[in-house]
Amino acid sequence: MMNPVIKALNFRHACKLFDPDKKISKEHMDMIVTAAHLSPTSFGLEAWKFLVISSDVVKKTLRPACWNQPQITDASHVIVILSNPSLADPSKEYIRLNSERRGLPEDAVKVYIEKYKNHMETQVFPRMSAYAWCSKQCYIGLANIMTTAASEGIDSCPIEGFEKELVEKALNIDTNQYEVAVVVALGYRTKEQPERRRHPMESVVEYI
Ligand SMILES: Cc1cc2nc3c(=O)[nH]c(=O)nc-3n(C[C@H](O)[C@H](O)[C@H](O)COP(=O)(O)O)c2cc1C
Repeated sequence: MMNPVIKALNFRHACKLFDPDKKISKEHMDMIVTAAHLSPTSFGLEAWKFLVISSDVVKKTLRPACWNQPQITDASHVIVILSNPSLADPSKEYIRLNSERRGLPEDAVKVYIEKYKNHMETQVFPRMSAYAWCSKQCYIGLANIMTTAASEGIDSCPIEGFEKELVEKALNIDTNQYEVAVVVALGYRTKEQPERRRHPMESVVEYI
């Protein structure tokens, strides 16, 4: 028997042509956003937001900012995943509040914050911006959205083909807080998925 997650992963492909007349039910969308919500983040920061778009008017406004890709307007729903880099600043009150919210005992909070600060300052910020780091977490949400959708026979297309500033402008995003990380279109395919082309397993997996 095939593992149900592998089955979903086999079903998933980057869908280019969505049926514009087929809409995802509320029940399925609830399932998909639950998968996003349950996704893990480094240090449990949850520095993100999932903007779920079903309005045709909004999708039409968004499309030119996304290389004019037809998936944006043909898909039933588009989720714009926003990163919230302002929350990652180690000096911000949020780091303490978030540790407390997650039930860490008082003496552990102090140690945790120090550990976080050190990690960000020595490992993360020398290599990437807070935006890039928070966006990495957003991609975990993206993966879970796509796999959960696929497990219910719903297609998706991850979309990085966009102009960030134009997307933020089209959606009136307050960029002091949020920045667009990645976009995903969701709906139903009109054609069978093409043959999967992957590098051979041995060339990308090594057991040591
Ligand atoms: C982060 C990310 C961004 C992508 N952006 C686009 C995009 O803007 N437009 C598009 O048609 N496909 C996009 N793709 C789809 C990839 O081209 C596709 O996943 C890859 O070719 C493998 O094909 P498969 O997903 O059908 O297995 C993106 C994929 C990822 C993971």
